[in-house]
Amino acid sequence: MKRFQNKVAIVTGAASGIGRATAIKFAEEGANVVLADLAEFESVKSEITNPQSHIYLKCNIGERADVVNLIETTVKTFGRIDYAVNCAGIAGKVSKPVHEYPEEDWLNQIQINLVGTWYCVKFQLEQMMKQGGGNIVCVSSAAGLVGQPENSPYAASKHGVNGLVKSAAIEYATKNIRINAICPTAIETPMIMHGRRKLAENPEALQQAINFQRMKRMGKPEEVADVALWLCSDQSSFITGHCMAVDGGAFA
Ligand SMILES: NC(=O)c1ccc[n+]([C@@H]2O[C@H](COP(=O)([O-])OP(=O)(O)OC[C@H]3O[C@@H](n4cnc5c(N)ncnc54)[C@H](O)[C@@H]3O)[C@@H](O)[C@H]2O)c1
Repeated sequence: MKRFQNKVAIVTGAASGIGRATAIKFAEEGANVVLADLAEFESVKSEITNPQSHIYLKCNIGERADVVNLIETTVKTFGRIDYAVNCAGIAGKVSKPVHEYPEEDWLNQIQINLVGTWYCVKFQLEQMMKQGGGNIVCVSSAAGLVGQPENSPYAASKHGVNGLVKSAAIEYATKNIRINAICPTAIETPMIMHGRRKLAENPEALQQAINFQRMKRMGKPEEVADVALWLCSDQSSFITGHCMAVDGGAFA
């Protein structure tokens, strides 16, 4: 019997990077998976071999109605939500100090990374309370643990996610619901290679990002996905409210 046989998992941000790796691993381990993202799912579809037990849903987590639809569609199709891994998130477009940071970009990162994650958690918890339990993992960031110069909205949004996770963990600790966060440093995904820091085009910045980890390499999306699945599994049954660095020793 597979570890997540017949269980139901929602993964947001499932079209790319960490979310994609998480959805694929849930599928490999027997779960029914609801993959939610704004983007097209082409790169993940070919990896999932039993499509009848998966749904691909267009969803902007920053839109309340989209998140409500995500939860309703999941429950209508599979009857419940055992696990939710909230990976969807964005990086900023620029690197600027606080007083120069463009307001629109600042607000958008808070809207997607913090408010969007809150919508997901809020409606996932509502369903988990109805069904008597569940397990949530939010993919936060090392920028949720320490400040990041020239990246204040991202860091503020991820500190917010960690605050949400810790508060919810206490509120639901006796309700058979666990909620944890994962705080990765540099993970090799499109976000870091082509986003704000454009590491793919900047060998010096790439080397800096690599050196930040004591292991002198970036993490792989699969290495974060493995932690997400472990936090969802019974192997981590006494862990809730934890904001776990996945950092190749960076914070050691
Ligand atoms: N890659 C890293 O180094 C790193 C480090 C720390 C934290 N993180 C976090 O990990 C998570 C996943 O990032 P990734 O590196 O896999 O990036 P990615 O860009 O490869 O994947 C992010 C996915 O989220 C989706 N998305 C963005 N906004 C959305 C929205 N409003 N609604 C629904 N989907 C949306 C994107 O379309 C994309 O498919 C993010 O929350 C990110 O902040 C990444």
